Amino acid sequence: MTFRREETVWIPESDLDGMSVDTLAVRAGQIRTGQLEHSDAIFPTSSFVYGSAAQAAARFGGEEPGNIYSRFTNPTVQAFEGRIAAMEGGERAVATASGMSAILSTCMALLKSGDHVICSRGVFGTTNVLFQKYMARFGVETTFVSLTDMEEWQASIRSETRMLFIETPSNPLCEVADMEILGQLARDNDALFVVDNCFCTPVLQRPLEQGADIVIHSATKYLDGQGRCVGGVVVGSEKMMEEVYGFLRSAGPTMSPFNAWVFQKGLETLPIRMRAHCDHALELALWLEQQPAVERVFYAGLQSHPQHELAKKQQTGFGGVLSFQLKGAREEAWRFIDGTRMISITANLGDVKTTITHPATTTHGRLSPEDKARAGITENLVRISVGIEAVEDLKTDLERGFQALRNESTDNV
Ligand SMILES: Cc1ncc(COP(=O)(O)O)c(C=O)c1O
Repeated sequence: MTFRREETVWIPESDLDGMSVDTLAVRAGQIRTGQLEHSDAIFPTSSFVYGSAAQAAARFGGEEPGNIYSRFTNPTVQAFEGRIAAMEGGERAVATASGMSAILSTCMALLKSGDHVICSRGVFGTTNVLFQKYMARFGVETTFVSLTDMEEWQASIRSETRMLFIETPSNPLCEVADMEILGQLARDNDALFVVDNCFCTPVLQRPLEQGADIVIHSATKYLDGQGRCVGGVVVGSEKMMEEVYGFLRSAGPTMSPFNAWVFQKGLETLPIRMRAHCDHALELALWLEQQPAVERVFYAGLQSHPQHELAKKQQTGFGGVLSFQLKGAREEAWRFIDGTRMISITANLGDVKTTITHPATTTHGRLSPEDKARAGITENLVRISVGIEAVEDLKTDLERGFQALRNESTDNV
């Protein structure tokens, strides 16, 4: 009997060369065992065995490839790494325990005391705290600049600048940075350009093709997509990822095999989910712009957005997160949020379930009042991560929030 494709335990990556991100999301990085399972296997094991003491020594000495211990290699984690690396167009990915540990591992592996970082102000609040409080303790100083003011980036460059760090689109104001310009600035100054691609995912934007050296994800968000696990990943060149892997091996902020399996499954539906998130978010953003209680909507898909054209150039969709300012202050924002009944009040984003949050007192609550003001995190700002429920039902629920505002104003008459 002749076995044909079934004999192939590993799916050679070359078979997928040139294929689209939709295909890579489903097919790349699978590690098939001798059981020839169709879905990905999961390897919940902390260590691996050897045929002999000599083989154990060869593995530990790096003379023979293979698994040793799941703090640094595990087949399920490697399968996820292979898939996301292919989708981002990077040589290699290193998975981590969370998005924050992906950022920390990148900094610990590639920066040293005395180095200088330039980071956009509009990053996730904890990223700001990591740079401002913790990296500073180890002699890495960070200058925070406006994501979109290229002159400020240029003026902040020093001879010690080793990293430019951004999120684009930013959280929660959806500002968009010009990656080509920032990538060039980084190259001209021998610095690394790092992009947190959490909001777009490789389905909507591939920063490595637009000037970035490293892409970071909080896999917790869209890569999972159903709010189940916390995880992160760093993608870049083999050389840089070997450094990140080295830090992970020594320090241990590792992704668990179970989480890797969930993320691997999440990636399979990422392209279709992202398209639904984008469609729903655009429709809601247009609707919110018409509401009398709304002062301003922030969403790169709107013509009114200052970087709408840039977003069209860099992204194939505008993403699922939007934010808006209500007329009023914290009281109105909280009243609106509390008025909704179905949408989840939670700070997570990227879920198929729509979520609503008040950034000033949650995700960005640890920023000083000055930093909040500089980052545009006002008290009347509400962020929505638009899920895949029917848009009409989302409008119905948000309308309950607007009704709560109207009830309050008539109660006060
Ligand atoms: C853009 C962005 N980057 C990084 C993180 C941190 O990720 P994690 O919560 O997985 O540590 C978050 C979390 O909300 C985020 O929104």
